[in-house]
Amino acid sequence: YRIAVFASGQGSNFQTLIDASHKGILGAEIVLLVCNKPEAPVVERARRAGIDCFLFERKAYSRREDYEAEIAAELERRGVDLIVLAGYMLLLTPVLVDAYQGRMINIHPSLLPSFPGKDAIGQAWSYGVKVTGVTVHLVDGGMDTGPVIAQKIVEIEQADTIEALEEKIRAAEHDLYPQVVNWFAEGRIRIDGRKITIS
Ligand code: GRF
Repeated sequence: YRIAVFASGQGSNFQTLIDASHKGILGAEIVLLVCNKPEAPVVERARRAGIDCFLFERKAYSRREDYEAEIAAELERRGVDLIVLAGYMLLLTPVLVDAYQGRMINIHPSLLPSFPGKDAIGQAWSYGVKVTGVTVHLVDGGMDTGPVIAQKIVEIEQADTIEALEEKIRAAEHDLYPQVVNWFAEGRIRIDGRKITIS
C-alpha cells in the first residue's frame, strides 16, 4: 500500500508516519512528500528518511490546476493509493479532489464541525470550550467538510495554557493519524456517503 504525504510546515505528523512505517505498524510505504515550501522543516525530515520529494512554489504557477496536474501525474507514476494531508496549506482543486475521491484524508486540530479553517486551536481556546480534539476526515471540495473517519477528544483543563493545549492536540494527532492510515492500508474502511465504518 503506497501513500503520498502533502505538507507545508513542521512536519511533526509526517515524522510520526515515518516512525510508524519504520516500526512496521503503518502497513504502508511513504513513497512521496509533496511540499509547496522548499525551505520547510518537513523537507529535511523527508531527506533524512530517504523519501522522494515533489517540491514546488505556488508563485511559479498562475493556476492551482497547473501544479496539481503535475502532482497527479507524479502520483499516478508512483502508484499512490492514498493521499495523506498533514498541514498542507494550499487549497485543493477538483483536479486532485476528484481523482482521489475517497482516497484522500486530512487531519484537523478540532472536533469538526466546530472550528473549521485556520487556527482551529486558537479558535477553540478563544471560544472557551472545555472539550476539543482532533478529526481525521475524507477530503471533499469544501473547507474541512468531508465525511468524518475518526475523532479523538482532548480536554481543556483549568491549568492549561494555549501552549499546553497545542501540545495535547499534537499528541492526539500523532496517536490517531498512523492508526487511520493503517486502517486504509488494511482495507478496513467502508464509505457509504457520510457514514464511514471500520471493519
Ligand atoms: C496539524 O495541527 C494538523 O492538524 C494541521 O496542520 C498541523 C500540521 O502540523 N492540519 P505538523 O506540520 O504535522 O507538525
